[in-house]
Amino acid sequence: MKITVVGTGYVGLVTGTCLSETGNEVLCVDIDMDKVKKMQQGEVPIYEPHLDVLFERNINAGRLTFTTSLQEGLDHGEIIFLALPTPEDEDGSADLSYVLGVANQIGKLIKDYKVVVDKSTVPVGTAEKVQAAISKNATCDFDVVSNPEFLREGFAVDDFLKPERIVIGSSSERATELMKKLYKPFVRSGNPIIIMDEKSAELTKYAANSFLAAKITFMNEIANYCEKVGADVDKVRIGMGTDSRIGKRFLFPGIGYGGSCFPKDVKALYNSGKEVSYNFQILDSVIKVNQNQKIALLPKIKEYFNNNLNDKSFAIWGLAFKPETDDIREAPSLYIINELLKEGVNIKAFDPEAMNNVKKKYDGQIDFANSMYETLKEVDALIICTEWSIFRTPNFSKIKDLMKGDVIFDGRNLYDLEDLKKENLSYFSIGREAITSERQL
Ligand code: UDX
Repeated sequence: MKITVVGTGYVGLVTGTCLSETGNEVLCVDIDMDKVKKMQQGEVPIYEPHLDVLFERNINAGRLTFTTSLQEGLDHGEIIFLALPTPEDEDGSADLSYVLGVANQIGKLIKDYKVVVDKSTVPVGTAEKVQAAISKNATCDFDVVSNPEFLREGFAVDDFLKPERIVIGSSSERATELMKKLYKPFVRSGNPIIIMDEKSAELTKYAANSFLAAKITFMNEIANYCEKVGADVDKVRIGMGTDSRIGKRFLFPGIGYGGSCFPKDVKALYNSGKEVSYNFQILDSVIKVNQNQKIALLPKIKEYFNNNLNDKSFAIWGLAFKPETDDIREAPSLYIINELLKEGVNIKAFDPEAMNNVKKKYDGQIDFANSMYETLKEVDALIICTEWSIFRTPNFSKIKDLMKGDVIFDGRNLYDLEDLKKENLSYFSIGREAITSERQL
């Protein structure tokens, strides 16, 4: 099939590349000339595991091409994916100006039947608005469908190629059939293509992400409570998660959820509620609890150093909002860094992928190291913000030798408490017993 993807951000790029992998001819459109030029030369503009291999293969096969011309894009594809940014407005709702701007253009430029697909996460009712915007100028037939993505950063290629489900919001049989044909190769395992109306499809995305964010947030509150009463959240988590109605996944407490999706989507759904006089009380709490959770390690750090952090030196392991990505949007590490800088702390950080992005934000304010151990020289404490695999089994003797202090503040519960006790390090994590080294006692 001939497919056009408008917008080569994270979602557009993964969608376009993966659709070309099943033999479709995919043309990606972006207004950024520089980016398009680089992509034409085979350069992947984002870090996402496995994307580079697929990218190269399909470019070489001539199935994946790029242009800055929307007209060319609209002449090419029968299905036009809109994967445009929907940034947060000042009030937290989704800004639709990019989506509707392109929809206006589409009306003017299409010459024959197209299925226009909303792939961006958009508020309920957007498909209707896109339909209206195209209709204003269109002289031929077209359909608008909603097809939300459920891609996780770091696993996006796998999630696209082997989705648990495909959700399609469509009220046109013709469009539905084309979408089913397109996705058939991805659901050979029997996973469903779920067809529904456009509004329900749009809401499915927000509801799924908000539910997961609430699940994590609930566990974070249980973890905070565990600390007060001396229970161990890891044990509670396993005890709860084995109930199949609850499930084991997304029960890991930590220093809050971040990234480009959960924070934005929860706020957008909350605000969409307000627009129709519905107060999502759960989401209001989720937003507030998560904000506090991002800096949940700080009171522990301050108490440990008797409220005097001025001129202390700390190492930070992990800056990305989660492992396997260089994305630092809404990353808890940034909230912690901001607070520590206010207190006069010297910071040396390491992250396998995200350091360049953080450098741009904190030019000269913090130091960066080439390896996790290099951050530790003469520091008073180590703070862990992201659960990269490389941090999971460190050489504790080396840590002790390099550090001046002997305390770890772990926002991701990476280490076994019994192991840490043997190492004679002080260790503070989330929702578990605090361990104090003999030196401290
Ligand atoms: C999420 C959804 O999973 C995906 O379906 C959607 O399309 C986009 O948003 P992503 O933001 O890439 O994907 O990351 P995900 O792996 O879901 O993690 C989100 C956040 O929750 C991260 O900050 C992560 O650290 C946190 N998290 C996740 C926890 O704190 N505990 C958990 O148990 C799971």
